[in-house]
Formats: sequence, C-alpha cells, structure tokens
Amino acid sequence: MTAQLIDGNQLSKQLRTAVATRAQALKAKGVTPGLAVVLVGDNPASQVYVRNKVKACEDSGLHSVLEKYEATMTEADLLGRVEALNKEPGIHGILVQLPLPAHIDAQKVIEAISPAKDVDGFHIASAGALMTGLPGFWPCTPYGCMKMLESIGYDLRGKHAVVIGRSNIVGKPMALMLLQKDATVTVAHSRTQNLKALTLQADVIVAAVGKRNVLTADMVKPGAVVLDVGMNRNDEGKLCGDVDFDGVKEVAGYITPVPGGVGPMTITMLLVNTLEAAERASK
Ligand code: GUN
Repeated sequence: MTAQLIDGNQLSKQLRTAVATRAQALKAKGVTPGLAVVLVGDNPASQVYVRNKVKACEDSGLHSVLEKYEATMTEADLLGRVEALNKEPGIHGILVQLPLPAHIDAQKVIEAISPAKDVDGFHIASAGALMTGLPGFWPCTPYGCMKMLESIGYDLRGKHAVVIGRSNIVGKPMALMLLQKDATVTVAHSRTQNLKALTLQADVIVAAVGKRNVLTADMVKPGAVVLDVGMNRNDEGKLCGDVDFDGVKEVAGYITPVPGGVGPMTITMLLVNTLEAAERASK
C-alpha cells in the first residue's frame, strides 16, 4: 500500500471532543444545544442512521429528541410538527430523515424547516448561502470531506478536483465547497463520456455515486487524494464504497476507507452544525 489512510474515526474523535468542549461552554451560559431528529416510517437503514445520530449527540453532551411516526403520517401533520419544532427554543437543529414515504413531498418538508435550524443544509436558503459564500449550514457529508482534506493540510488552490456524482446532498455542494477553496472543479455523472480521461487528470477525486468500483486503479493519477463517499454492499454482504480500495490504495497518495472514512464524518459534521446553530441562537 502506498496511499496514506485518512481515518474518519480518528478525525471524528478529535472534532467531537472539540464539540463537547464548546457544548460545555454553552451549557455554562444556560444553553444546551438541542437536535430534533424526525423519522417517518420504518425504513431499516434510516432507523440505524437515526439511532447513530441520537447516540452521537448524547456522547458529545448535546440534547436530542427522536420523534418517530408511522409511515401513514400525513404531509400536513409532518409540516405541523416541523412548524412546532421551528418555534421550540430548546431545539437548535431539525433533521427530517430521508427518504420520506412517497405520499409526502420531501422538498416541501425541507423548505418548512427554519433555515436557522437547517443543520442538514438541505434548505434552498442553505444551498443559496453555500453558492454565494454567505454564512449558512453546509450539508454534512461534503463538509466532512472538506474537513478530511483540511486534516492532511491539503491546499486546494489551483488543483483539479473531479467529483463523481451530482446529487443535491453530496455532489453539487461538494463541487461548490471545492470551488470556494479555489480548486478547478469538474463534476462527472452518469452521462459523462470517458470518465477515466477526467479522473486521470485529477489531483483530488470524490466518488459519490452509490455504486461499487466506479473508480479503479487505472483511473487514478499517482499521488492523487481519493475520498470515497459510497456506502454499498459487496457480494459477501460486507460494507464497501464506490472505490476499488484494494487497487486504488496502491496508486493514490491518500485514500479514505469504507467503513471508517467519510461515514463517521457525516454525523460529526451534524454535531458541529447543531452546535453552531445553538451558538448563533444564543448570541
Ligand atoms: N438520509 C440519508 N442521509 C441523510 C442525511 O444526511 N440527512 C437526512 N435528513 N436524511 C438522510
């Protein structure tokens, strides 16, 4: 193996310690940072994610409330809950776990969350703030990727970053964050022709597609930084990313593993955003 690992568990530990310290400082002023997590339905993956988010809050001294509702909950009732949480002074962050049942318009629900409490960074006001470089909340997964680059002291100025994937949650905000740090950014997606020609030019590659082996060793320039956002299962049912880790680690300069890479960073940045929301609200 030539690549150095960027360990998301270790970095998360450091960042969560800093969150706990800042949470203590706020508590001393009489404010306990609070996150409300809303889960509708019984999607098994969502149940695990939500449990992990609530546990992470507890471990870092943040208050959290988990609201679970039946899959039959109406859109109007959910919008009503979001409205109530917007007004709740002890709640600084609101997260509605996605996906929502098909009869609920997820975008409508996201837009109902107060931008001041939008710790997922999915509201159009948050997206607009990121696009224009104004203060707001950054989506947790790409924000975590930026922290990983920061942790290795990587200077993005003038570097070529290739983002594979164009989702609203990862690919698009990732591209904007990299651009904000003066990288030259290419966004590749399912219609991209000759992906390999692009990735071979890249100093940084972020794979965020949700498909195994999207990036293989022959597609990577020696020494490149490879961030793997994917969460897939291989044929043996083991968790794996979008990157062929075993091959790419022999070529890349840095690489994030799956599990233990970007995954834990997503929850960590949710804690950071919730704390930030509480700090802003208490100013
Ligand atoms: N579902 C999968 N990832 C996420 C996330 O980061 N936030 C929310 N709200 N739902 C998700």
